[in-house]
Amino acid sequence: MSVVLSARELTRHYEVSTGLFKPHALVRALNGVSFELHAGKTLAVVGESGCGKSTLARALTLIEEPTAGSLQIAGTEVTGASKAQRKQLRREVQMVFQSPYASLNPRQKVGDQLAEPLLINTSLSRTERRAKVQAMMQQVGLRPEHYHRYPHMFSGGQRQRIALARAMMLQPKVLVADEPTSALDVSIQAQVLNLFMDLQAQYQTGYVFISHNLAVVRHVADDVLVMYLGRPAEMGPKEDIYANPLHPYTRALLSATPTLKPNPDKPKIKIAGELPNPLNPPSGCAFHKRCPYATERCSAEEPAFRQVGTRQVACHYAEQFV
Ligand SMILES: Nc1ncnc2c1ncn2[C@@H]1O[C@H](COP(=O)(O)OP(=O)(O)OP(=O)(O)O)[C@@H](O)[C@H]1O
Ligand SMILES: [Mg+2]
Repeated sequence: MSVVLSARELTRHYEVSTGLFKPHALVRALNGVSFELHAGKTLAVVGESGCGKSTLARALTLIEEPTAGSLQIAGTEVTGASKAQRKQLRREVQMVFQSPYASLNPRQKVGDQLAEPLLINTSLSRTERRAKVQAMMQQVGLRPEHYHRYPHMFSGGQRQRIALARAMMLQPKVLVADEPTSALDVSIQAQVLNLFMDLQAQYQTGYVFISHNLAVVRHVADDVLVMYLGRPAEMGPKEDIYANPLHPYTRALLSATPTLKPNPDKPKIKIAGELPNPLNPPSGCAFHKRCPYATERCSAEEPAFRQVGTRQVACHYAEQFV
């Protein structure tokens, strides 16, 4: 199966002001994330607020340049690509945001907004564009008369369907979705998620699906990447991670997720304390101050993100949890 997205040590730092006359500080929002995404598969990215999920999304969709590392989209290197190549690559990676208002123009009719990517990027005639838009609208569950309506005339779920339709108009290789259902009513979340899955099955799009909801991730993911303070903590096949999380942080995240069949062999672990200040991350393992298993080694030495069985883990004691 073909690799549609490949990130190597992707890194993004931000310089931030710490006050008047004080030196600038560095936020390591994204710190060395690597993965490969195959056509038709979903990589889910999870982690607490501020761990760098949206920063990763912006780097993958070429909204922001990475500080370091490399990114390949459908085999083409992004760093060092010409302007024309970047324009072409932008077509191949589309994004759906938490709020559809971020991707929809409130003053333009929905049908015209869906036709716009075709107008800019293809030589289709007006009639052909219209036919394609109508077909896509039908596919995402909108009626033909919705063509002439404005975004505010739709429900939240419908608007997210429109945003998804717009992202899929040019059949991109990759779709990056940043919390696409978190703002929706629980009763319609499942419908919209199923629509995501249906479109993926049809077009074989690779998805990077960002969510803090582990129940949603369980539904959509093939692979899961757990991030902590800009770094990967654990990554691997969904089944393995849910059945036996190896990083204490993953275990804590999963402990906080309600399940139908609690496992009595796996004691729940709670995350103590607050997320550390990203301007002043802890030494050694960034999670050690909140980890119930932390030892002296954890505060002194940063654990390597390494292969343990079917997955990769950044914990000194991962092998012992297998
Ligand atoms: N433009 C920026 N300038 C400075 N710092 C930034 C910028 N964008 C993000 N950050 C910082 O980078 C870190 C990661 O932010 P990011 O938005 O990627 O987190 P997130 O995982 O998407 O969080 P959430 O779940 O709340 O959406 C945070 O500490 C944030 O304050
Ligand atoms: Mg975010």
